Amino acid sequence: MDQATAAVRQQYEAFPFPDLPFGALADLTPGPSSYRFGHYYCTHRLPATQAVRILDAGCGTGFSTLKLRQANPDAEIVAVDLSEASLVRAQARLAAAGYGSDAVTFLQADLQHLSDLGTPFDYIHCTGVLHHLPTPQRGLNQLKSRLKPDGVMCLMLYSGPGRALIREVQQLLRQLWDGQDLSEGLMVCRTFWAGLPTEHPYKQDYQRQKKVLADNFGAEFADSDAFLVDTYLQVCEQALYLPDVFALLAVEQLCFLRFLDEADWAAQRFFPGLPDYVAALSLPARYALVDRLRTDRNYTFYASPQAFERPALTWLPDAIPEPSPLIRMSAEQAILENGLGQQLPLTEVSRAFWKAIDGQQSWRQICFALAPSLGFSEVDTEVGLRGLMQALLEHYFVLQH
Ligand SMILES: C[S@@+](CC[C@H](N)C(=O)[O-])C[C@H]1O[C@@H](n2cnc3c(N)ncnc32)[C@H](O)[C@@H]1O
Repeated sequence: MDQATAAVRQQYEAFPFPDLPFGALADLTPGPSSYRFGHYYCTHRLPATQAVRILDAGCGTGFSTLKLRQANPDAEIVAVDLSEASLVRAQARLAAAGYGSDAVTFLQADLQHLSDLGTPFDYIHCTGVLHHLPTPQRGLNQLKSRLKPDGVMCLMLYSGPGRALIREVQQLLRQLWDGQDLSEGLMVCRTFWAGLPTEHPYKQDYQRQKKVLADNFGAEFADSDAFLVDTYLQVCEQALYLPDVFALLAVEQLCFLRFLDEADWAAQRFFPGLPDYVAALSLPARYALVDRLRTDRNYTFYASPQAFERPALTWLPDAIPEPSPLIRMSAEQAILENGLGQQLPLTEVSRAFWKAIDGQQSWRQICFALAPSLGFSEVDTEVGLRGLMQALLEHYFVLQH
């Protein structure tokens, strides 16, 4: 094992992550946990079977593994991590939730050098891991080689721009502490945060982040040693900007499918006054632009060896779009459910769109009905109609962040 990976392992042996209590929080943010949801979100088709193979790559203390187990009852699940202490916690988490020891196959392994994991996987879930490898490309290569040709991956990687302030703090802490003894590092880190004036932008950023974490995962997690080590004392972390991430995918011939928080990537959020300039850019160039202004700390997206066709190119104005089996209509609105029967928040446009799809109206009729509320005035021309159809298709499953 190379020196950097050995250091990462040592860190997670001492401070397994996430340091979350068993049980109570298991069902939080389940979107990417459901293979059925991910497949439909990306391909607009339900998978042929739910008896699939799933890999949780870098499973940590099993928070994600438990969610995968719950969301995919018919799947065979393999979970891999470098750190033995994390795997022990993960197994205990599954047991505490009432699962037997055969519910998940846990393996200690380095993602950069995977041994035989059996037949290829339909779904690989890898969140918060690849940016901690000295060679993310090598890890991604290994994952791709374990994925079926029509399989789907859900990756969460740190956002380079979104973590710029965190990197500054990491670097200044490194000037105070030698990077060896993590207990000393923790003392330096806590003392630094306690002493930094409240109005300092780094402190404000830290407090904001802490509040978000406390609201979502509890105050104990937000103040845990494991969180501080993982975030500010991290021994190996790559600063990847979105074009770097796309380059990693391109080398492995993986197609980018969709962001989980696609609504966040709409350029008009940041450039409402420059629509023509933005429209002239390719989609990756537009994403790269948004990347520089987006403050979210992570990228969460789906990728696959297969470039699943978006139906925009094949659907005709007189075709009748079918209701989605994952969308439930309540009296007032469309509700998207994931594999756990939980509701995922759709944007307003998505909700209006799904409400209009009743299996009887054609695209043309739906476009006419929705055009005024979306500010489209020229749906009576073929070009105008196609523009609106495209806009609606882009809102197919756009989740609110
Ligand atoms: C930040 S935690 C994320 C845990 C989990 N995926 C989640 O989202 O909650 C990173 C995990 O990646 C694991 N890891 C880091 N490098 C690895 C490698 N080369 N091979 C396997 N696991 C690795 C660490 O041991 C740690 O448990």
